[in-house]
Amino acid sequence: MEQQKLKELMDSLTLQEKIGQLVQLSGDFFGEGDLSTGPQAKLGIESWVSQHAGSVLNVLGADKVTDIQKRHMEHSRIPLLFMADIVYGYKTVYPIPLAMACSWNPEMVKQCMRNTAKEAAPDGAHVTFAPMVDVVRDARWGRCLESPGEDPWLNSVFAKAMVEGFQGSEEVCEESDRMISCVKHFAGYGAVEAGREYNTVDMSAWRLTQEYLPPYKAAVDAGCDMVMTSFNTIEGIPATANQWLMEEVLRREWGFNGVIITDYAAIQELIAHGVAADDKEAALLAMNATVDIDMKTPCYANQLQPLLEEGRLSIKKIDDAVWRVLTLKNKLGLFEDPFKGIDKTLAADRKSSPEFLRQTRKMAEQSLVLLKNEKEVLPLNPEQKVALIGPYADNQDMMGLWAVYGDKSQVVTLKTAMTEYLGEKSRNLKAAPGCRIMDNVSQLGDFGGMILAGNAMDGTEEENLAQAIDLAKWADVVVFAMGEHTLQSGESGSRTELEIPDSQKRFIDALLPYTKKSVTLLFNGRPLVLTDLMKKTDAILECWFPGSEGARAIVDVLYGQVNPSGRLTMSFPYTVGQIPVYYSSFRTGRPADTSNHSGRFVSRYIDCPNQPLFSFGYGLSYHQAEYGEIFLDKEVLTPGGSIRARIEISNTTAIAGTETVQLYLHDVSASVVRPVKELKAFQRLELAPGETKTAEFEIHEEMLKFYDQKLTCKAEPGEFELFIGRNSADCKKVKFQYVQK
Ligand code: BGC
Repeated sequence: MEQQKLKELMDSLTLQEKIGQLVQLSGDFFGEGDLSTGPQAKLGIESWVSQHAGSVLNVLGADKVTDIQKRHMEHSRIPLLFMADIVYGYKTVYPIPLAMACSWNPEMVKQCMRNTAKEAAPDGAHVTFAPMVDVVRDARWGRCLESPGEDPWLNSVFAKAMVEGFQGSEEVCEESDRMISCVKHFAGYGAVEAGREYNTVDMSAWRLTQEYLPPYKAAVDAGCDMVMTSFNTIEGIPATANQWLMEEVLRREWGFNGVIITDYAAIQELIAHGVAADDKEAALLAMNATVDIDMKTPCYANQLQPLLEEGRLSIKKIDDAVWRVLTLKNKLGLFEDPFKGIDKTLAADRKSSPEFLRQTRKMAEQSLVLLKNEKEVLPLNPEQKVALIGPYADNQDMMGLWAVYGDKSQVVTLKTAMTEYLGEKSRNLKAAPGCRIMDNVSQLGDFGGMILAGNAMDGTEEENLAQAIDLAKWADVVVFAMGEHTLQSGESGSRTELEIPDSQKRFIDALLPYTKKSVTLLFNGRPLVLTDLMKKTDAILECWFPGSEGARAIVDVLYGQVNPSGRLTMSFPYTVGQIPVYYSSFRTGRPADTSNHSGRFVSRYIDCPNQPLFSFGYGLSYHQAEYGEIFLDKEVLTPGGSIRARIEISNTTAIAGTETVQLYLHDVSASVVRPVKELKAFQRLELAPGETKTAEFEIHEEMLKFYDQKLTCKAEPGEFELFIGRNSADCKKVKFQYVQK
């Protein structure tokens, strides 16, 4: 629709129609029959709100969406928008975002999100609440699962890739091929105090600007049309009421004129936060912060009109918000065709299509991170007798918590994948559950009706252990398939202990005396504490929640068909007491390794190293690579100029492999304290057996910039250290100067 026509439509709307656009309701408000006694009464809204509501939360399916839209259009002039959490796959599920990021392959991640849009859009999805790009440095927080990880720059790279994937930004594409992307949770949600879900965030504006905001900004710069507010506070003001954050930073500084939606019920929660006395005040605060859509509370629905009548809110504020929502609907072409993009046949064809399944398997191959491999236990040989034991040995719960639309029936289990791979040699495989995932699942609570699956086991603990001992005695290698219950991570999955559950620890201890060699496969949604497990098992493969085809990828790695290449994007702590632990920590006055102060009086723990067990960027492969020295083509960088850094990397083995070559910088002396290292570039280098290749990087001024005390982004002259290596803790180093005249 032309702007002028849209404007005319806008001017002709009644106040109720306008307010409706700013309200999002869940599917139960759009059913048939009498709603007034059900959901409407429960939420405390009148029927006009359901009639004029602007958008629907988490309802998908071509038929269902068509039906709701059809009935809606019988009494409304404005079509509904359908929004849903399609975070890392629709029916085809990709590895969790924390896993995908370990591929360090943004192009592939973009392709996976492209596929996701192609699968979900014809089934009625207009908007996905993704990507989630909160910087995460506290493994206690269950939502690490949804994020690419701990690094502001790397998260920004993935933010861009995912937005472009969902929205198809670079292609001219049909509505049935793309979804609008809503980046979340703006802002800083990954820094909730003590890793406890829905908790406070408090940090300096300096740190927020420098480390936490860049990934959201990257999403906005990539053209993302929606932003979701976070549940947390920023400098004492909840994000949903935070005018500085929403209006000044997001809209004014970044030029975002898309739609801001709250997180679930966040406007009404302003009362629980203690910054609003009642629904009316809450609605006013959110409106003043230019928040456009109220997700699932009665605040906007019931309070905007009284606020207007009392002169506390201007019609301009309401009109601006409505205009943004209408503009988005117009962009999708919904005024011409409210059913645009929905295509039942296409949706059916694309559901779990062979192409998407192939892609998720490739993605999983690159997401797996080999953490330990001793006694040459991996790769396995098909002639070896293998006992596959553990709660994930034959379990389809491999999608992780936010794959709410995933087709679980498609998920291949490890046992199936291994049997398939071994073919007639599958006589060399025996599998058993061994133990329960957890002793007690009741602490997990429920999640949208999700049953507490995955903990079932026939027989007693003793009987299962006896069976497992028999298998271990028979086998050459025991493959333990262990990890978290799906509900232990993800939203509301905060934990204070980060080892594998007790039932599994007990089981491994009981089985080890009968085990010749062992490999542990881990299924989890966050970094775990593996310090104890490291001492017990010969190899550890971090599998995360690897998605629909993850098991096949794991089997390929186990048997050496695929050389593992994943590198961690979040540090794994030695112990919970180290958290938050991340590679890019700030310099201190008494660094543990270089301080003049001796012994006790440096910045360290007396009972644990400062470094994590596995650092950011870490991961093993079956090949070995040697890194040469770094050569710079100049030692002085000037504004507008660049330095080329080169390093030779040799594959010293007969196995082809991929090295993820990582480049970090360190500003030696600046006007504010700077991190000890910051990732600035990386390259995936494929090396044939015995091959030597040169990785080349270009260093320019932009990479040296940081925020000073006045929040000015600039590069300051002086000395810089440049590191290139296989991970953040294992690098070669050179120095260069940056001069401004
Ligand atoms: C989560 C969001 C999600 C929303 C809608 C909230 O509880 O924090 O990430 O998008 O629900 O389902």
